[in-house]
Amino acid sequence: MYRAKITAAAYHVPDRVVTNHDLAKVLDTSDEWIRTRTGIRERHFAARGESTSDLAAAAVKKLLKQRGIDAKEIDCIIVATVTPDMFFPSTACVLQEKIGASNAWGFDLSGACSGFLYALATGSQFVHSGAYGKVLVVGADLMTSILDPRDRNTYILFGDGAGVVLLEPTRPGERGIIDFLLRCDGSGGKYLRMPGGGSLHPASPDTIRRNMHVVHQDGRAVFKFAVQGMSDVSESILRRNHLCSSDVDLFVPHQANIRIIDASTEKLGLEQSKVVRNIDRFANTTAATIPIGLGESYEDRRLKKGDLVLLATFGAGFTSGSLLLRWTL
Ligand code: ACO
Repeated sequence: MYRAKITAAAYHVPDRVVTNHDLAKVLDTSDEWIRTRTGIRERHFAARGESTSDLAAAAVKKLLKQRGIDAKEIDCIIVATVTPDMFFPSTACVLQEKIGASNAWGFDLSGACSGFLYALATGSQFVHSGAYGKVLVVGADLMTSILDPRDRNTYILFGDGAGVVLLEPTRPGERGIIDFLLRCDGSGGKYLRMPGGGSLHPASPDTIRRNMHVVHQDGRAVFKFAVQGMSDVSESILRRNHLCSSDVDLFVPHQANIRIIDASTEKLGLEQSKVVRNIDRFANTTAATIPIGLGESYEDRRLKKGDLVLLATFGAGFTSGSLLLRWTL
């Protein structure tokens, strides 16, 4: 029996940095409002013509270099995203070609902000079963493609980006991924969604007139559920593994709002110094926040071999999840 472990972690964000001050020039908002209500100072926006698979490919190329392997060694690619390049072919197929992973198959996974954890849990099972030895798990979103630039309620919250990890089997004595806990509650769907463009409301002049191809959300409702949901999945996974918050070396929460992160952290009783908080620079990159957090923490040597890492998320669906792992790099 194999366990899965992360053997490389990388991320990529587009070059263009958009500050709160930039947004305040075109929207009825201010740097002060955005900073105090969300913790965001700036975000990265993709260039026109840039796609989710471009961001993902850039992240994967860094990862392959880091691990020192050729793309042809990859067996499987899972791309968590709500902003695929198009409905089909999948972004995983587009990415497979872009990176030259000619021996890999792959698929997209739609779990909104929880997509990366869903994908990480799924990929870990392919390794755990012995089916595959090298699985790429990507979280990538180009949120600016589905935001209404006139809507100050949503436009200020998001950024574009991609993160990726490589999963491989553990060696004897290594733990790697220890446990995961995934949930969804479809009754929360109405609070956060993009209603147009699917089979229910295919694109038409009417769906465009009704502004249905952009993110719609009830921010206050999402906020309340997010704090409860993220602390709940975190507490539950620790409890069932007979661990407490002081055992955790690094907490990598989904980055939606600094107040959601702080409230969940406080409920968990975690020290602030153990919490990854990069929302100030990247905003909410949806499926990419957690792999960006991992990639950055690895790059900055904040992650150390043997660390117990807790990942937790909450997002549209509602979806939520947590995952515990021992860092082995
Ligand atoms: N600039 C200035 N004023 C604004 C802005 C803005 N960008 N946006 C809203 N306001 C106004 C509102 O119109 C409202 O004015 P009113 O009182 O005159 O009606 C006032 O500010 C307060 O609005 P609230 O919605 O109560 O503000 P709140 O403190 O709840 O913050 C926010 C709003 C930031 C959206 C918060 O609710 C939130 O973060 N919710 C979670 C949503 C989220 O993160 N979604 C992302 C995807 S899901 C996920 O990743 C977990």
